[in-house]
Amino acid sequence: MKNRIPNSPDFRFNNEESNTSASPEFDAVLAARLSRRRLLLGTVGAAATSVFGGAALTGCASTGGMAGAAGSATMAAPLSAMGFVAVGKSLADKIVVPAGYQAQVIYALGDPLKASTAAFKNDGSDTDWDNRAGDHHDGMEYFGLDAQGRPSSSATTRALLAMNHEATTDEKLSSFFIHAQGGGSTLPRAAAEVDKELAIHGLSVVEIAATAGQWNYRPGSAFNRRVTSMTEVRISGPAKGSAHLVTRFSPDATKARGTLNNCGTGKTPWGTFVSGEENWYGYFHRDAKDDERRGKKDKSVAALVRYGRKAGAASRHGWESAGSADQYVRWNNGALGASASADYRNEMNTFGYVVEMDAYDTQLAVRKRTGLGRFAHESVSFAKAVAGQPIVAYMGDDSRGEYMYKYVSAAKWDAADANSANRLAIGDKYLDQGTLFAASFKDDGTGQWIELSMNNPVIAANPDFEFKSDADVAIFTRLAADAVNATKMDRPEWGGINPRNGEFYMSLTNNSKRTVDGDMGVDAANPRYYTDKKGSKENKGNVHGHIIRVAQAHPADTAFQWDIYLFASEADADKGKINLSNLTDDNDLSAPDGLAFSQATGLCWIQTDDGAYTDKTNCMLLAAIPGKVGDGAKKTLSYPRPDGSSKQVDTYVGKAQTPDMLKRFLVGPKDCEITGLCETPDGKAMFINIQHPGEGTKMADVGDPAKYTSQWPANAGYGAGKRPRSATIVITKVDGGVIGS
Ligand code: FEO
Ligand code: CA
Ligand code: CA
Ligand code: CA
Repeated sequence: MKNRIPNSPDFRFNNEESNTSASPEFDAVLAARLSRRRLLLGTVGAAATSVFGGAALTGCASTGGMAGAAGSATMAAPLSAMGFVAVGKSLADKIVVPAGYQAQVIYALGDPLKASTAAFKNDGSDTDWDNRAGDHHDGMEYFGLDAQGRPSSSATTRALLAMNHEATTDEKLSSFFIHAQGGGSTLPRAAAEVDKELAIHGLSVVEIAATAGQWNYRPGSAFNRRVTSMTEVRISGPAKGSAHLVTRFSPDATKARGTLNNCGTGKTPWGTFVSGEENWYGYFHRDAKDDERRGKKDKSVAALVRYGRKAGAASRHGWESAGSADQYVRWNNGALGASASADYRNEMNTFGYVVEMDAYDTQLAVRKRTGLGRFAHESVSFAKAVAGQPIVAYMGDDSRGEYMYKYVSAAKWDAADANSANRLAIGDKYLDQGTLFAASFKDDGTGQWIELSMNNPVIAANPDFEFKSDADVAIFTRLAADAVNATKMDRPEWGGINPRNGEFYMSLTNNSKRTVDGDMGVDAANPRYYTDKKGSKENKGNVHGHIIRVAQAHPADTAFQWDIYLFASEADADKGKINLSNLTDDNDLSAPDGLAFSQATGLCWIQTDDGAYTDKTNCMLLAAIPGKVGDGAKKTLSYPRPDGSSKQVDTYVGKAQTPDMLKRFLVGPKDCEITGLCETPDGKAMFINIQHPGEGTKMADVGDPAKYTSQWPANAGYGAGKRPRSATIVITKVDGGVIGS
């Protein structure tokens, strides 16, 4: 979903501000408690040393696990230079790529996934949405197939793409481009419209193949699959069976329905697809009396508020209003029945997880991996799996002032598990028993992963919210991270692991609530507060975002070192205060979001979801050859206060960028976000998603194509109608070479 800046129509659904946990910095009582906690946790002065020693990984961090495993001769060598000329900023309604490259649309909203499904007319009359590509293509992973259709980690011409369909372009309740006249904008919603909207969310798996270099998707493939907001899924991990997950649909809390607002993705070392549920809370209705009904002191009330649903909260689409059938009433989160098994008071607790899917098997139910915690999930970055060591996954919670997380499995990696055909059973082994940690960044350039479990006395004896079990920690993860005073970040988005050295990178996309002092006052890891002008409008806070990186001797360690790899900025901004990474017109950007390392070339790909620099350019994709934590220098930023004093913040800036280290590679069409990135194992074809082109169109103009803010991909020659569509594109080099070389 596009990161609209405040006052834009949909910002409330993407920029939740439910982290009202007090800052110890401005609360003496809490400060005292914090220091006691730090003693209990043993984190005072815990310095990370020698983190560069021993973590070096070389070559390709293949996810392996199948026929034609890693080390294939087709693998490209890590690039030490990029051979393309950077593209300029663009406001055109088209895809711009460097000379020598081509981009082609292969799979868009509404495309049929079954041979029996009618061609997409794109005029709002289409039906059979359970068998069509969903909306708002987002995170995406590549799963190779050999010529016989068997899983293959080296296949370069036939594969499955598994992807998220995060949300939909909407205004006043309605997903207006999929309804003939734009749909209803008042309550109650029409059931026929809601049924379509329920189906366009979720996941899809689609087979693709290249013939003579030309990629296409296969509409009749038996591998094609949809998972929607209604598909039955299994609850897995510590929260399975919890009283907090009991619903009328599943009184024993072992199953649930659907996955929703899926944003970032990941690929496990055993070859499955994982997907993060992000802004799911916005789909639920709570009436104004629900706190009283539950009892204002009931802990479910505190949890609902912390997760963005105060009593009286209206839902994004009004799905709960469409009738008395179960698929509608489940979106009313009120405690309306005699007990939890008689209503959907807990339905929201069944969302907010990482879900795992076997992309190769359409029959296996998706698992909600509750052990990875419940928050506004983005991507899941798996550290290289090492035999005899735990599986480690890094994650972020994308809301203002939320936290970064890490999961460490209890089971130790057995390399044979990479080749199992029973992939979800391997997922059970590594993702259902483990420990969550939240990140605390110190101003000396070190940091600590703090355990979130009943083993931590700060959580077990937390006075603010009662945790009775690790199931409670899994379901109410944000409150556990509050208890340990994790660092409030500038909206954690995607992460990635640098295959050259194992370091973990994470986009922090922006934060309009970052201030000099106060609850989200600037700190070492989130050090910028400034003003940016967009036309005549002034935006304040960390308007453009940054990318932080973490180095650990071993991924499962609790100590780390960090620095800020990249400060996003407009090129002409003050180099002493804002443009701290020395960006130029060839590589300036705003709002980094998607982030992925090529396993073939080691390039770091950075995608933007911006609303601040869009007066000058549409969203973009950049390529980088990054260095390592500590390759830059300490920097002290000084912020004058109204009383004449100033606040000094020490931070750690990665090596200044040069135009040959970081280059703009692609700019998308109007009003889109660039997201989702995967590639063939030889690095010669790259797949990305163009999400919500034309999002700024007004619902009232749905009948007038001339008023659409984008007509992509129709204007690129793809498909019927002129309504804009989210779509997957493939990028190749005209000479057939490796992308970026
Ligand atoms: Fe769906 Fe945080 O982007
Ligand atoms: Ca986003
Ligand atoms: Ca500006
Ligand atoms: Ca995102």
